[in-house]
Amino acid sequence: PVKQSVAGLLLDWYDGHARSLPWRTPPGAAARPDPYRVWLSEIMLQQTTVAAVGPYFAKFTGRWPTVKALAAADEAELMAAWAGLGYYARARNLIACARSVVRDHGGIFPATEAGLRALPGVGAYTAAAVAAIAFGERAVVVDANVERVVSRLFAIPDPLPGSRPRIRAHADTITPDVRAGDFAQAMMDLGATVCTARNPRCLLCPLADPCAARAEGAPDRYPVKPAK
Ligand code: ADE
Repeated sequence: PVKQSVAGLLLDWYDGHARSLPWRTPPGAAARPDPYRVWLSEIMLQQTTVAAVGPYFAKFTGRWPTVKALAAADEAELMAAWAGLGYYARARNLIACARSVVRDHGGIFPATEAGLRALPGVGAYTAAAVAAIAFGERAVVVDANVERVVSRLFAIPDPLPGSRPRIRAHADTITPDVRAGDFAQAMMDLGATVCTARNPRCLLCPLADPCAARAEGAPDRYPVKPAK
């Protein structure tokens, strides 16, 4: 058979194994998800698990279905609705960002990574994730799951955090020009369900063949931990 690219292998796997999550559209769907819902989910997911975020995402999108609604939210009510998610700076930034989108951008989220990055509370990761998932921009999306997958795929020998520039450069080389959002979320799903920190399930992994850490026989050595 023809040797497939990493992105091709991963996207084929995602077509059958994508987690169905409330802020997603199905893999390969022509329609992109609502930028407001993507942004809200990515902020909520920053220090919180997918399972914990679910009910909060439903509550927020039910109460404030659009960025305009959120910009007009009563701050005390929003902080109360956030209670339990922790890291309350995120909730304060949420309002600030919604208000900036309404005041400075006519209620429409900027459609580029650079434009998103300029919003309050939107860091490099969130800007890349929203650009890829909501707008299909070829952005390099690297969270902790992706760091682990890439560290293993290329058997990156240097420890975190110094290895981050190399990880990002490798992630860039495997990021496709098409299906940017699916690719980013496929990497996250692979890291969350297959290429896990402990006991990686290489027998189920669509990237087992090209994976350098698997070839060495010790995938869980990566990412290499900093010396204590
Ligand atoms: N973690 C952060 N963003 C995510 C997403 N879009 N899907 C799954 N897990 C995530």
